Amino acid sequence: MEFYDMHTHILPGIDDGSETVQNSVLMLECLKKQGVTNVCFTPHMYSQEISADDFLRLRQSAFDKLKPHLPDGMEFCLGAEVFVTDYLFVNDNLNRLCYGGKRYMLTEFPYKSQFQGRSNRQLCKLINDYSITPVIPHIERYPALMKSYELRQELREMGVLFQTNTISFEKIPARLKLGKLIKNGEIDLFGTDAHSFAHNTPESYMKTIELLKNKGLKRDIEEMQDVAKRIFVPVEL
Ligand SMILES: [Fe+2]
Repeated sequence: MEFYDMHTHILPGIDDGSETVQNSVLMLECLKKQGVTNVCFTPHMYSQEISADDFLRLRQSAFDKLKPHLPDGMEFCLGAEVFVTDYLFVNDNLNRLCYGGKRYMLTEFPYKSQFQGRSNRQLCKLINDYSITPVIPHIERYPALMKSYELRQELREMGVLFQTNTISFEKIPARLKLGKLIKNGEIDLFGTDAHSFAHNTPESYMKTIELLKNKGLKRDIEEMQDVAKRIFVPVEL
């Protein structure tokens, strides 16, 4: 079976994630050892600080450094964790910031966001004006989303997807709540959000999958991997 990590900071030297090619390789080997087959590189893109052109140049150069050292037998996809501000919409062709340049964008918002007002307008704009499907990373970091079923449903009906970090299942209250959301079909994707072995360690991926399997959520896990498969566009090596 294929296992997808849809959110990582493994590309070297581009954000607060991996600092060196060597560390990036160790993190990828760690995912591979656990059985993860497909990895998305999603470095931070702070739209208020950098243009899409400049970000994509930096991402390409980080990827070019890592490329000769990528482990065999895995597939990779280039994306970004885009911090959404109104400056994002100054850029042309936002698809370039989507997973594999196509349709689905990992879209980060301030954690205190209520997803009314401005952030709601920005999500609508991406969906309606750009035909981009937003994927909100680590749903567990947004109290407004965790609190309100109605808000989650409202966003899902707009077409928004949700991702959860595998490391978040280490803590009991979050584990129970996130397990329930997965069971209800309210979370679409898994990611490690790995920055290093000390910050969101990649070691958490399969531990969480096993834990959820033991809770009887095997079918839900498979469905989430199917969603990932639809989003993942492998980079040519
Ligand atoms: Fe992240």
